[in-house]
Parts: sequence; C-alpha cells; structure tokens
Amino acid sequence: MAEFRAMAEGDLALFLRLTGLVGWGMTEQDFDRLIKFSPEGNFIASMDGSDVGMVASTMYGDVAWIGNLIVDTQLRGRGIGAALMVHAMNRLTARGVKSIRLDGVPLAIPLYRRLGFRDEYWSMRYMGEAAPGPVTGVEQMRPRDLDEVAALDLRYFNAPRREHLEYIHGLTPELCFTHRAGGRLVGYIMGGDGLDRVKVGPWICEPGHEKGAEALLNAVMNRRPGHRVWVGFPEGNRSSRSILERNGFREIPSSLRMCHGECRSAERVEAVYGLGGPDKG
Ligand SMILES: CC(C)(COP(=O)(O)OP(=O)(O)OC[C@H]1O[C@@H](n2cnc3c(N)ncnc32)[C@H](O)[C@@H]1OP(=O)(O)O)[C@@H](O)C(=O)NCCC(=O)NCCS
Repeated sequence: MAEFRAMAEGDLALFLRLTGLVGWGMTEQDFDRLIKFSPEGNFIASMDGSDVGMVASTMYGDVAWIGNLIVDTQLRGRGIGAALMVHAMNRLTARGVKSIRLDGVPLAIPLYRRLGFRDEYWSMRYMGEAAPGPVTGVEQMRPRDLDEVAALDLRYFNAPRREHLEYIHGLTPELCFTHRAGGRLVGYIMGGDGLDRVKVGPWICEPGHEKGAEALLNAVMNRRPGHRVWVGFPEGNRSSRSILERNGFREIPSSLRMCHGECRSAERVEAVYGLGGPDKG
C-alpha cells in the first residue's frame, strides 16, 4: 500500500528525478513555484519507505489544476497513479475546490475518465525554433501593467491568477510583453526558460488582434534567437495555430483537456493563444 505526504522543500531532488523521467523540461523554478503557491496541494507517494511517485496542483480560487502525475517507471500499473489522484482530489475538494481540471496525455486518459473526469477539448502542443520577426505595437511589460494584465487575463482565462502572473513576470521580465490598440491593453504574453526550451504562456489576445498576437510571440522569440520554443493552445484557437505554422512550428503530441466537478469555468479559447502551462492551465 502506498502512503502519502505533502511535498516539501526537501523534495527538490525527487521532483527533478521524476520529471526527468518524462522529459517535460521542468526546472527548480517550477518546483519553487509549486511549493510557494500550493504548499498543501502537492503530494508524494512512498512504498516501503521509498518515494515512488508524485502529483502536483495549483488553485485559482475554487478551480484547481492537477499536473505532474508521475510514478517511477518500474512501479507503474499497480494503482499508485490512481491512488495519488484520488488523494489529491479529496484534499482539493476538502479545501473547497469545485472543479478540477487537467491536460491528460493520451495514455493516461482512460485513468482520468475512470476517476470521473470529462473530456473538454484537445490541448495542442507545438514546438519551434525562435526566429526574429517584427514587433510593431508591442512593449516590454512593466510591474505597473500587472493590474491591467490581470484584468484582461481574468476576462478570458476565467479564473483569478494575478499572483501567478506577477510571479512569472518577476522571474523573467525580459520575456513578458504587452500589446495595446488605441491605448487599451488587448494582449499580453509571458515566457520562461525551461530546461531545454523556452516555454511560452500565458499568451492572451482579444479576438480581432491576430497581428498583435503574432507580434507578441515575435517579441519573445527575438529575445532568444535559435532557442527551442514550446507553445500549448486550445484546439479552438485557429489563429494561434496559423501563427505558429507560419513561423515554422511543428505539431507534437497533444493532450486532452478534462474536467471534474462543476466545470463551469472554461476559458474563452478564442483569446487563449497560449496556455499558462500543461499542468497549470
Ligand atoms: C500516468 C501514470 C502516473 C499512471 O501511474 P500508474 O501507477 O501506472 O497508474 P495506475 O496503475 O493507477 O493506472 C494505470 C493507468 O495508467 C495509464 N497508463 C499506463 N501506462 C501509462 C504510461 N506509460 N503513460 C501514461 N499513462 C499510462 C493507463 O490509463 C492505465 O490504465 P489501464 O490500467 O486502464 O491501462 C504513469 O503511467 C506515469 O508516470 N506515466 C508517465 C507520466 C505521465 O504521462 N503522466 C500523466 C500526465 S497527464
């Protein structure tokens, strides 16, 4: 039988070992963010005194995202993953969470369906190489933009994540940009340096501003020429797909966005050009 405990600061090496098994490009910064924002929402499974798996979560009000469900390779298929999920789901529900969402890789979809998650839409993933491009109408994001950025974000992401936006901006301000039309903020993008790739997102832009959305992406790419760039986006956002394909990005395997519980908080996909992360919405 597996036992569970909350992930704590001393678990960095375990986090890096388990995420290293799956190659999602996670870093120490990803760990720090989980510990900072959800100290009681990340769990480690152990068996016979050895740590064998983990799951993480991020809460935005009464909506939570589950991610980084990983079990040691040689112990898969024995129910540890399902037990970790049930443990996390129970803890989140006890803390008042009404909907739990996630992006499930195809192999794990049956597991999530068994646990009561319902399909929402395909969450696309594209990978490319940063090439320079025009950046008309784009400015470097400043700390004083964050209130406006958070208000725009809430309108389209539909769950409050201002503290997270502030945190991401603080980590890599040179990869965060805004786009205004007639002085009004209509789009923003945030990027971060992963282990072996630049991770783009969140990347939000109001419908009707595709050119601005592309300029935002260019602004990030101009800062990291030649680097690998990862973007995830909802399948319903055709503009994001065409921008990425125009810029030479290639599709890599997608995940299924799924929801458990009330599921009334889905984002407005027409404005979501880039996810905040596969594990964080
Ligand atoms: C997904 C994962 C955590 C499941 O852990 P587990 O302890 O093997 O899970 P359980 O024994 O409770 O359940 C097995 C289920 O996991 C899923 N699964 C099996 N092998 C898998 C694999 N290599 N990758 C992903 N999911 C897998 C299947 O849905 C399986 O259901 P089935 O028994 O109907 O075939 C584990 O396979 C893993 O670490 N995979 C790599 C990381 C990953 O893909 N995580 C999910 C991200 S959304």
